[in-house]
Amino acid sequence: MPTVLEALKNRSSKRAYTDKKIPKDILEKILDAAGMTPSGANMQPWVTYAVTNEETLKKVGDAVIAKMDEGIMNDQDVQYYPVKWTNPYKKRRIVTGAGLYKLMEVDRKDNETRTQMWKDNFRWFGASTVIFVFTSKANIEGASGAFIDCGAYMQSIMLAAQEFGIDSCPQGSTTEFGRVISKELGVSEDLALLYSVVLGYSDEESKINGYQPDKVNLKEAVTFID
Ligand SMILES: Cc1cc2nc3c(=O)[nH]c(=O)nc-3n(C[C@H](O)[C@H](O)[C@H](O)COP(=O)(O)O)c2cc1C
Repeated sequence: MPTVLEALKNRSSKRAYTDKKIPKDILEKILDAAGMTPSGANMQPWVTYAVTNEETLKKVGDAVIAKMDEGIMNDQDVQYYPVKWTNPYKKRRIVTGAGLYKLMEVDRKDNETRTQMWKDNFRWFGASTVIFVFTSKANIEGASGAFIDCGAYMQSIMLAAQEFGIDSCPQGSTTEFGRVISKELGVSEDLALLYSVVLGYSDEESKINGYQPDKVNLKEAVTFID
């Protein structure tokens, strides 16, 4: 069983999974533990849909891919990525993307393969469990606390999963199609999709799962005032 530090250091986003299903009791343990995540005023603003129904996941994925094929770039309640990319974040994004495509031997100009790789998000990278996290639209009207709380909740899910040898990939790609997904899942119109997390047993043979992008070192990331 990994220590917390090991789970933090060893987790990385996995984008290929085996067919093995997560037993329901383990999924419940992960989500129950994640429910202990702290939140401002103990608001617990996450509203979680844990979807393992194959038909539902296919239906949701089909609906998003259909939108993409119509040339629709997003249909969202929440803008996840910066509207204005500035450095050093822009550079990190480019380096991270380029590293993944290099590993997969995909040319920078090969838009078809790149689009296909992006669409894999909506085939859940072959995983059979996807956690969709919503919050009330009222929570994020002119306030950002719920984003912070639900971000912490995301990491709790991913770390708790590590204890059971379960890997994950957080998804902001689904945020971009939040309205389509909400409709397909039949969730209340009062809710906005913040993100999803794919959970499963990673395919250790697959090349893509070997990708571990560089992280900023401690000295650059943290200003110590001793
Ligand atoms: C909020 C959030 C949204 C993300 N969205 C996606 C996504 O839609 N598709 C994807 O393949 N990876 C996505 N990622 C994974 C990031 O690309 C990944 O966390 C980052 O490159 C660092 O790699 P690591 O998770 O292996 O440490 C997302 C991560 C976060 C935290």
